[in-house]
Amino acid sequence: MAIEKILITGASGYLAQFIIERLYPKYQLTLTDIVEPKRDFDGTTFIKADVTNASEIEAACAEQDAVVHLVALVRERHGKPLTLFADVMVKGTWNVAEACARKGVQKLVNISSISACSPAPGAKLPYQVDDAFQFGAGDLYYALAKHLGEQIGLAYHQAHGLKVIHVRPGVIAGDGLNPGPSAPEVVTDPWFVYVDPRDVAQCVERAIETESITYGAYNAVAGRADSRFDWKQAKKELGYSPEHNWDEIPDSDQ
Ligand SMILES: NC(=O)c1ccc[n+]([C@@H]2O[C@H](COP(=O)([O-])OP(=O)(O)OC[C@H]3O[C@@H](n4cnc5c(N)ncnc54)[C@H](O)[C@@H]3O)[C@@H](O)[C@H]2O)c1
Repeated sequence: MAIEKILITGASGYLAQFIIERLYPKYQLTLTDIVEPKRDFDGTTFIKADVTNASEIEAACAEQDAVVHLVALVRERHGKPLTLFADVMVKGTWNVAEACARKGVQKLVNISSISACSPAPGAKLPYQVDDAFQFGAGDLYYALAKHLGEQIGLAYHQAHGLKVIHVRPGVIAGDGLNPGPSAPEVVTDPWFVYVDPRDVAQCVERAIETESITYGAYNAVAGRADSRFDWKQAKKELGYSPEHNWDEIPDSDQ
């Protein structure tokens, strides 16, 4: 069945505004978050709901064809206890997947992160989805919560036939937390980890539109030869075609 109605969780956040901007002319959007969105998008509906509350998120999923799940601890995460990551990111994603299964939602597009899969030392680069990865001590709660979020998606795909696509954005430029990219003085490995939020929104749209992929994970990073994470699988399978690639920063094949 064609996807017409989409619920966006974390809809008042930074990345969501680019996704809403891209999707709202084509789809009937319901936005949900614990805080009201700062901007009005014509024709959208807002539902205040906390992803840690199963019944609130289940009610928000009623009659939706797809869910784009963005809620995470992002800018405010450093120094927070692991229970908060477990509640908001793991239980929250589990609640969303369970709500999708209970309410007959067809597809979950889960916004994960390249942090879910740091390439193991010495790994072949660029990192391809399913290559070996290794957790590190830095930002472990976030990385582990993202990894577990993907496992929850896999479980609900296998157990309930929910279509699940994990989109793993690189470092999002302009989010108020990360400085923009600047080339290291000596370049050895592929180093570029950034993505423009408009390209993440394009990747999400492709993930919504694909009919041939029922489960998968895709890196959404800039379309550069020096990207540390491979983006060509997303190009080949989803038709992702990044348009904002920092052409002013020399690429390794130039
Ligand atoms: N910013 C980056 O560089 C980056 C990189 C890769 C992946 N991501 C992922 O993209 C997504 C969006 O990131 P962002 O930068 O827009 O973050 P953000 O903090 O701007 O947005 C997160 C939203 O989640 C909402 N939220 C928090 N707890 C909630 C709860 N319990 N219930 C309901 N809503 C709740 C917040 O109010 C906020 O609006 C996240 O999943 C993040 O992990 C971000």
